[in-house]
Amino acid sequence: MQSTSINRKDLFLRACGGEAVARVPVWMMRQAGRYLPEYRGIRAKHGFLEVCKTPELAVEVSLQPFRRLGVDAVIVFSDILIPAEAMGLPLEMGDAGPNLPNPVRKKSAVEKLRVFDPEIETGFLPEAIRRIVRSVGPEVPVLGFAGAPWTLACYMVEGQAKEGFSTVKQFFYHEPKTFRELLHRIAQATIPYLKAQIAAGAAAVQLFDTWCGELNLEDYQESALPAVQEVISEISGSVPVIYYTKASQHLLRAAARSGANVLSVDWRVDLGEIRGALGPKIALQGNVDPAVLLGPAEKIRGVTLDTLSSLAGRGHILNLGHGILPNTPVENSQLFVETAQRAVLQAMRPAVQSQ
Ligand code: CP3
Repeated sequence: MQSTSINRKDLFLRACGGEAVARVPVWMMRQAGRYLPEYRGIRAKHGFLEVCKTPELAVEVSLQPFRRLGVDAVIVFSDILIPAEAMGLPLEMGDAGPNLPNPVRKKSAVEKLRVFDPEIETGFLPEAIRRIVRSVGPEVPVLGFAGAPWTLACYMVEGQAKEGFSTVKQFFYHEPKTFRELLHRIAQATIPYLKAQIAAGAAAVQLFDTWCGELNLEDYQESALPAVQEVISEISGSVPVIYYTKASQHLLRAAARSGANVLSVDWRVDLGEIRGALGPKIALQGNVDPAVLLGPAEKIRGVTLDTLSSLAGRGHILNLGHGILPNTPVENSQLFVETAQRAVLQAMRPAVQSQ
């Protein structure tokens, strides 16, 4: 494991704030997951939701990538659908992904959704965070998270992930007021949910808006963005907020108005160009294509170093552009993390030359 002496929390928070750093911090979305044999070992014995809801197990799988790869941040193991269940929607997690058998498709269903007490209904999550913080100590950042309202609404309305999300859009177009009420309720439930994670010791929180790229700019600005702003305005100032979007080039200028400190983007965009467009005030997270980690070592090294050099180490958290793929060889994920953690000089050189 590289540079054990470095204060990773300090490094991470400085990167979120766009301050100078000794090196760029690195972690991976879905870093606790099926590519790790030790994760598969736990999952062979326990159901997915059981792992989420049992602090002992959630802590164990959260720490697996930290032990194995020495990543610079530990994200708590959970799922964005957990609050949907706590709001009153039964949730099943099968091999094909999440399934909500009673989707929300009319006003009466929206009105039934409740704002819940996160320490009571989802107490396992803050408890897992408290235990992880105790285990890794004050120099490692532990990340909390939630789904962004639009992305959570996609699952709550569709019942599962579907290409194009036509049912949720249909709802939005036919009943914009009721749909906005749905987003508002999700936002209102998400605020205390994130606050509980912060109170438990989360050093930063990430909002996952995986499906906002399905919207055009106008619809995004009318629906998804105000709901994200509603959440972030209540959180901001306490800990940095990272806002993840995918396939969202057409939305990034608007997404930069979310209030987030860090915008997390995928591989379809050039980090240097976004920095040019958005300026240095918003930090960027990303954006290596997870499929690159299926490639040969020289490809992984090359893309990692290019990605680092594109921002010259300023206001940058290195990550993938989406979750690590389950068929990623562990040694490739290791190479990604090590390359980043050893990269300071190589990464800076091209950027310094171009100034
Ligand atoms: O990043 C981490 O390591 C923390 C844990 C985490 C999971 N899901 C665990 C998980 C996080 C941050 C998430 C977020 C999440 N969950 C998102 C947003 C990010 C993204 O990937 O787009 C979404 C859309 C979900 C909903 C979800 N959960 C889906 C669509 C699926 C099925 C697809 C898949 O990858 O299997 C899940 C299941 C899930 N969540 C798994 C993991 C490790 C795999 C389940 C298993 O162990 O069998």
